[in-house]
Amino acid sequence: MNSGHFPQEEILIVGGGIIGASVALALTRRGASVRILERAEPGGLATHAAAGILGPMNETDRPGPFLDLMRQSLALYPEFVASLVEETGLSPDLALDGILSVAPGPADRIALEKRHIWQRAIDPGVAFLEAPAAKELEPALTGSFDSALWYPKEGHVFAPRLIKALFGALFRRGVVIEQGVQVVRVHPEPSGTLAVLDDTGGIRRARAVVLAAGAALSAIGIPGPPVRIHPVNGQILAVRSPGSFYRRVVFYPPHGYFVPKKDGTVVIGATEERIGGRTRVTPAGLMEFLAPLSTLAPGLLSLPLHHTWSGLRPCSEDALPVLGPLPACPNIFVAGGHYRNGILLAPVTGEILADMVTGRSTPLASLASPFSPARFGGKIPDPHVDQ
Ligand code: GLY
Repeated sequence: MNSGHFPQEEILIVGGGIIGASVALALTRRGASVRILERAEPGGLATHAAAGILGPMNETDRPGPFLDLMRQSLALYPEFVASLVEETGLSPDLALDGILSVAPGPADRIALEKRHIWQRAIDPGVAFLEAPAAKELEPALTGSFDSALWYPKEGHVFAPRLIKALFGALFRRGVVIEQGVQVVRVHPEPSGTLAVLDDTGGIRRARAVVLAAGAALSAIGIPGPPVRIHPVNGQILAVRSPGSFYRRVVFYPPHGYFVPKKDGTVVIGATEERIGGRTRVTPAGLMEFLAPLSTLAPGLLSLPLHHTWSGLRPCSEDALPVLGPLPACPNIFVAGGHYRNGILLAPVTGEILADMVTGRSTPLASLASPFSPARFGGKIPDPHVDQ
């Protein structure tokens, strides 16, 4: 067993969403003793709201470190899920049966053709399809559109079941989850121990702390420059499809997508709203992503409405993840800013952070280095750009 830097000491994780849970699981697999502090319900504000899309190619407009990180996490997914199923018997309905990205008209086609050129150099399986071929892959696409890109290796997972399975595994491994603990500050003491203060004046101590508090991360006082995370509200809804014959995730511009789940619901989303730390669902918001469906996939608009909801995506200053130790205090680690891709990035974040916290050196460290919190002090290159 790896002895790591903190072999017998408890590691505190602030935040019980998908990222905190994934880091906790990876740490326990390295023999660490872990406790999670969650201010509300385990599962997190963003995690429960997530559509569960695992689609790296639609989440960036260029090759580079961010795409590499997402693709690595997607590659980890089958094993990540299989081990959870084995440990807990709970299946999060992983479906890697392809994603379509649709160009509604000729102007969008040009953008799609450009994307195809650089994306097929990374994955030769990415295909440019005319509308009839795309319609064969997804029966919901009965309307009119120009063309589509096809990503055969991407897909989705059922996020609420994934988090349930993760917590099932954590309980079995003896991880303590303290609910209702609002951490307000983390600082080093002269002994080198970290003091973790909550809003009631309570103090917990640890040798290492991982900040995985999603959109609430900025509210935690830390040594050195702040890590600014902005909440971005996403409105989303689900309809019921009794026949359950829709199969593929479909993206449509600018922010629209639908995700047919194995249980017969189709999740349709999502807005992007910077309205502070509150969530909201509005008719205007829902119309943003429902209106384009009247030409693209009109049948979806006649299905019974099951549920509407919203969640807060945690977005950093450059809209990229923030992974690694704080320059001002290297035993405080950040696992934040996952923005639109917390579910996708959970496995790789867990592995990277667990290696960092236990002092292991692995090839994943080079994937993570562009996302260091140190970049906000101007100390490392732009992570948007391939070095
Ligand atoms: N991952 C899709 C979204 O954040 O809406």
